[in-house]
Amino acid sequence: MTHNLKEYADILILGCGIAGSSAALEAAKHGFQIIIVTRYSRLEESNTYYAQGGIVSLGKDDHPEILKEDIIKTGAGINNPEAVDILTREGKKLIDEILIKELKIPFTRSSAESVDYAQEAGHSRRRILHVKDTTGRTIEEAFINALKKFPNIRFLSDHTAVDLLTIPHHSKNPLAIYKEPQCIGAYVLDNQTGLVKSIFAPYTILATGGCGALFLYTSNPKGAIGAGYAMAARAGARLVNMEYIQFHPTSLYHRDADGFLISETVRGEGARLKTKDGRTFMEKYSDKGDLAPRDEVTRAIYEEMINTNSNYVLLDLASYAKCDIKERFPHIYRTCLQYGIDITKEPIPVVPAAHYCCGGVLVDSWGRTSLKGLYAVGEVACTGVHGANRLASTSLLEGLVWGTRASRHIASHFDPTPPYKESEIHPWYYPETQEEVDPALIQQDWLMIRSTLWNYAGIIRTKKRLERAKADLEYLQHRIEKFYREARMDPQLVDLKHGIQTAIMITRAALMNPISLGAHYRKD
Ligand code: SIN
Repeated sequence: MTHNLKEYADILILGCGIAGSSAALEAAKHGFQIIIVTRYSRLEESNTYYAQGGIVSLGKDDHPEILKEDIIKTGAGINNPEAVDILTREGKKLIDEILIKELKIPFTRSSAESVDYAQEAGHSRRRILHVKDTTGRTIEEAFINALKKFPNIRFLSDHTAVDLLTIPHHSKNPLAIYKEPQCIGAYVLDNQTGLVKSIFAPYTILATGGCGALFLYTSNPKGAIGAGYAMAARAGARLVNMEYIQFHPTSLYHRDADGFLISETVRGEGARLKTKDGRTFMEKYSDKGDLAPRDEVTRAIYEEMINTNSNYVLLDLASYAKCDIKERFPHIYRTCLQYGIDITKEPIPVVPAAHYCCGGVLVDSWGRTSLKGLYAVGEVACTGVHGANRLASTSLLEGLVWGTRASRHIASHFDPTPPYKESEIHPWYYPETQEEVDPALIQQDWLMIRSTLWNYAGIIRTKKRLERAKADLEYLQHRIEKFYREARMDPQLVDLKHGIQTAIMITRAALMNPISLGAHYRKD
């Protein structure tokens, strides 16, 4: 079967959370023809949409150097100092220019004269800008509304990125092997028709978000299955620090809540962690108490859950709140109430959940990967800002800064000349006979990936657990690859291929690094 469907753009952007959207906004202003691909049918759906806490800025009596110190301390000292400098020096300016002046984000104010700065763990100042507890949603909606106004941006929603198009790999020309490897776009599956399009672009920006949904418990949306890491690795780009998976200490413990996040700003407003029988415990683990860095709080909760033989601990805001709970946390209040928990009156049952990947596709200060033509921004990228553990509320800012910088770099170096003839590039290959996809098999494979990562490559890791995880996942990968080659193209199957590859990368990185640091904790 042949369906040689083609699309063209100057810049192809995969994903439209804050990083992809910032890249698109900047590139659109330079007049480039842009295609944005998103796996979801709703454009706003992304990790950004669910960010509650806020976006780091500079608070009162604050300075870029103080913020830099906090980032590096939380990151256990293995942060890239050049990247942290860029974030701390340029971040506030871009918040003012893009979020406040251009997108008119209504950050919560403490008075007519001043915005309200929230407190989060690891920060030595109150410096988090927020829109009550729906910061990500407000920012994401404003970006999408702004992007829709540009005639040079085309959205392909409900499309799944299958693989990056690269030369020489996808070229029929044997001489292409002598050229520098280059990304020239992507194969993208139209989820509705089951057909794969070749999208050609001299520049591709990966902004596909993270991989939290590879773990059994996660605060991320279902689509965060690590697609970008897997595609970049297959294309030959360099990835680093994949063992540093950050677990958020507090997601709602409820059968139907699907990892609903209870923001760290809740502890910033006074809430305290307690065991099921009402004992506070964080003072035993850190002199920062409930506001210790995330990795420490997560491990303390894990330990207390084991010691008390319990599936959760409690987060008590009702007894300690320094704010009007309903006014400050309307979204968390309403959502918990839906599950029968009144957070103004009773503690919230919480458990840790996979939240953020601090590593990823290695990029430079402009978001360039090691593969020509390919940029990566946001969670999928590793700028080195986060080191071994991310400081709270730095990810939205990193997405804004590197998204904007990537497009600025492309604009000042734009070269539209393709290093290949289009006729030399392989169209997507459809096998002659195509097996139907059995949802029961897909579901079981996902369960296996998620529970293996959670139990063996999760909060506390050992060599034995990681070796078992690696062996089990590699075996599963053989089966998935076979299934993939023979089955009808289906987004669920593409996800599975991406997911298993990223799960193996995390496991191998964790196994190869015996040193506990930040979010990577080995107990051998
Ligand atoms: C939170 O609100 O706790 C999440 C913020 C973040 O992960 O940066």
